[in-house]
Amino acid sequence: MCILLIGFMGAGKTTVMKLLHEQDLFFNIPCYDLDEEIEKKWNDTIENLILQKGVCEFREIESELLRILCSKECLISCGGGVVESEKNRPLLEQHTCVYLKAPKELLYQRIVHSNQMRPIVYDPIRQEYRMNDFFELFEKRNELYEKFADIIINTDTTDEDSVIREIVEFCKSKNPMVF
Ligand code: S3P
Repeated sequence: MCILLIGFMGAGKTTVMKLLHEQDLFFNIPCYDLDEEIEKKWNDTIENLILQKGVCEFREIESELLRILCSKECLISCGGGVVESEKNRPLLEQHTCVYLKAPKELLYQRIVHSNQMRPIVYDPIRQEYRMNDFFELFEKRNELYEKFADIIINTDTTDEDSVIREIVEFCKSKNPMVF
């Protein structure tokens, strides 16, 4: 059984995964960031991969790596788009999904100030993130995240410790054998 951190861009999936990993809260279960694994495998940035190969091919690459990583017990922080591909849905149903949720306005502020580029919602001509597209995509995906979520945790607070505590408590209650 894997634990998948899902949620929209800027929700804090990678940060939370790294904190769980650093504090070894899952007793040596391997922890991965799906985007980082894609970048390592392709030796290129997510931004370049999306711009050069297109979103459809990127989704194929993402699905393939998700499938490989999920074949062994692990914790994965997933890219915000994993809920888009039909192919990923059986995996999302089968494994434990933790939906990290925050208000769309806050998520937008976080990505505007992030140093990681999200080409899906970026306008290269105006050199800014397209706010309306970002909000629309959030509404569409939010339904999917909620559908797959085993638990929803708000990350609009700065208290990262309570976020990770909630995740650990939930996973403990679901699978006491691991702890
Ligand atoms: C994407 C989210 C990104 C990354 C890519 C596409 C998306 O990951 O996979 O830019 O479609 O929502 P984060 O959710 O970690 O930003």
